Amino acid sequence: MYLFLLHNATVTALDMLNISKLFVLVTSLASVAPTPIQERQASSSLDTWLISESTIALQGVLNNIGPGGSKAQGAAAGIVVASPSKNDPNYYYTWTRDAALTYKMLVDEVIAGNASLEQHIREYVQAQAVLQGVVNPSGNLDDGAGLGEPKFNVDGTAFTGSWGRPQRDGPALRATTLISYANYLISSGQTSLATDLVWPVIRNDLSYTAQYWNQTGFDLWEEINGSSFFTIAGSYRALVEGSALATRIGQTCPYCDSQAPQSLCFMQSFWTNQYVDSNINVNDGRTGKDANSLLTSIHMFDPAATCDDSTFQPCSSRALANHKQVTDSFRGYAINAGILAGQGVAVGRYAEDVYMNGNPWYLANFAAAEQLYGALLQWNKVGSVTVDSVNQAFFQDLIAGISTGTYDASSSTFESIVTAVRIYADSYMSFAQRFTPPDGSLAEQFDKTTGVPVSAADLTWSYAALLTANARRNGQVPGSWLVPGGNTLPSQCRPSSATGTYSSVIVTASPTYTPTPTSGFVTSTTSTTCPTAVALTFNERATTYYGETVFLTGSISQLGSWSTDEQSRIPLSADRYTSSDPLWQVTVNLQPTTTFEYKYYRIGSDGQISWESDPNRSFTVPSDCQASATVSDTWR
Ligand SMILES: *[C@@H]1O[C@H](CO)[C@@H](O)[C@H](O)[C@H]1NC(C)=O
Ligand SMILES: *[C@@H]1O[C@H](CO)[C@@H](O)[C@H](O)[C@H]1NC(C)=O
Ligand SMILES: *[C@@H]1O[C@H](CO)[C@@H](O)[C@H](O)[C@H]1NC(C)=O
Ligand SMILES: *[C@@H]1O[C@H](CO)[C@@H](O)[C@H](O)[C@H]1NC(C)=O
Repeated sequence: MYLFLLHNATVTALDMLNISKLFVLVTSLASVAPTPIQERQASSSLDTWLISESTIALQGVLNNIGPGGSKAQGAAAGIVVASPSKNDPNYYYTWTRDAALTYKMLVDEVIAGNASLEQHIREYVQAQAVLQGVVNPSGNLDDGAGLGEPKFNVDGTAFTGSWGRPQRDGPALRATTLISYANYLISSGQTSLATDLVWPVIRNDLSYTAQYWNQTGFDLWEEINGSSFFTIAGSYRALVEGSALATRIGQTCPYCDSQAPQSLCFMQSFWTNQYVDSNINVNDGRTGKDANSLLTSIHMFDPAATCDDSTFQPCSSRALANHKQVTDSFRGYAINAGILAGQGVAVGRYAEDVYMNGNPWYLANFAAAEQLYGALLQWNKVGSVTVDSVNQAFFQDLIAGISTGTYDASSSTFESIVTAVRIYADSYMSFAQRFTPPDGSLAEQFDKTTGVPVSAADLTWSYAALLTANARRNGQVPGSWLVPGGNTLPSQCRPSSATGTYSSVIVTASPTYTPTPTSGFVTSTTSTTCPTAVALTFNERATTYYGETVFLTGSISQLGSWSTDEQSRIPLSADRYTSSDPLWQVTVNLQPTTTFEYKYYRIGSDGQISWESDPNRSFTVPSDCQASATVSDTWR
């Protein structure tokens, strides 16, 4: 508590100092044509450092991966250790989130041409298929709950100590990593590998995401049990690209399609009009300015996207306004004293952080830079930069007195902006560079006063974050994931969930991997990838009046055993209802070969139930190993 108060006092004093300096700068430059505030600095030292540091960072990641990694003794194949540090703090575990982000970087390196890394990806797929089935304190695979377990022992067994669980970002992030890999396999002619072996693992994670995204859980820093911006955004991304992959391989993901619009809708609730409050649905006593949102922006980056606010693209007005608010919140660190607005600072997780005394994190600095490198790529693609009332304060730190407007790529102001933003982004990298030891090793944090590395040594995520920021700086981009025109917001946000399908996937790696199609894995039997349940979507076309809702009931317990009691009712969703296509939908998870009778009914605002006409409908759930099926009915 004492630290907390002292810290706040420091913030206030330094902010006032910075504000007065900024005011002097703004007034002195206001009368001249817009020019970048910073001098064009020689960035060759950063360029040179990044060449050697990126090699060290990739090796640093590989050192932490089993079975061969020099700092990962005892780790199973495809398991990445968060850090070799075994005490104070003990990070010698594998986290689903850190692993997914690390392997996303490795998949992108494979796609960019480094084929020598692919064996690690195959071992990751295998390891995750096994981990999905490990019974753990969060639960097991039957209803998906076990997928929310945040970390495991490095030999792949469950960690049974107390912990902040569940953490719901892990499955969504892992789905995104595996979807990137599956798309790569398909594009390189290895579709059956993608379909038979990677897709069933992805499907479990998509099912978890669709079922649980709208429940609280612990944030990425493992401290707050609420709704985290990073988790919700990552869920939306996984559901969108999961559905697209399903279509690409002749499957469907109805639970992705029904939940994606609502997760995007909820994502908008974190915006405060000035910045993103990273944790809501919880009383956490924080401002909510948190590197959580910087990491969200870089995770949502789509090189083909425009500066879209709803998906929080790096160049969107909201993400830029948020970048300023979040990074400014760390200007109170002693190490940032005297640094003017418009120059990069040391960035931590959130200002109220007391873990290890609350310090800057290398990965937060790299994320602050990576967002801006992403924005630069997007502005160049879009061909303009728009300064508006939301993001103006961000730009005014860089170009004093810049007014709102759209600056075309042919204008000198566009040139000034991209030059200034590039220098600004580099300054966040340089800050981390200054506090990296000569051997290039990256710990978790550096001290907020002295800059000395602190906490876990050789943090895998620090290395991965350096590599993704450097890739973006060099113009290397990951694949596009948004469906053009797909991110439409429902008119109303509603609590929502859909049941997908969970199946245990047993994958065995062939002893020696040779990079020819389909040789990397051997399934023990094909039947092990057959789903134990089918996601059955009921599509009912029923023209309804305002206030009316359509429900379903039927002869089996999953359909409420013909009950219309309030607690047994199964409402259909009108998210995709239009006047030309009055579609009501619900997806229910059922065992293959189940035969049942069912019927729809509706309830109006007066509470009266009206039934469809007889006879009862009937259906048998298919047993052909499909994960999903659809029935299409029209109200009668
Ligand atoms: C490709 O990956 C290997 C490790 O498998 C690494 O040694 C090498 O430096 C990487 N090449 C590039 C260009 O990053
Ligand atoms: C669930 O979604 C609704 C609608 O967006 C939202 O109001 C609610 O806060 C969400 N709850 C959780 C726990 O995600
Ligand atoms: C966190 O919230 C979830 C509800 O989504 C709950 O099941 C769980 O028990 C909570 N965990 C703790 C440690 O409070
Ligand atoms: C529909 O099923 C219900 C419950 O079994 C039954 O009471 C009803 O008679 C059935 N309707 C017809 C037309 O068979």
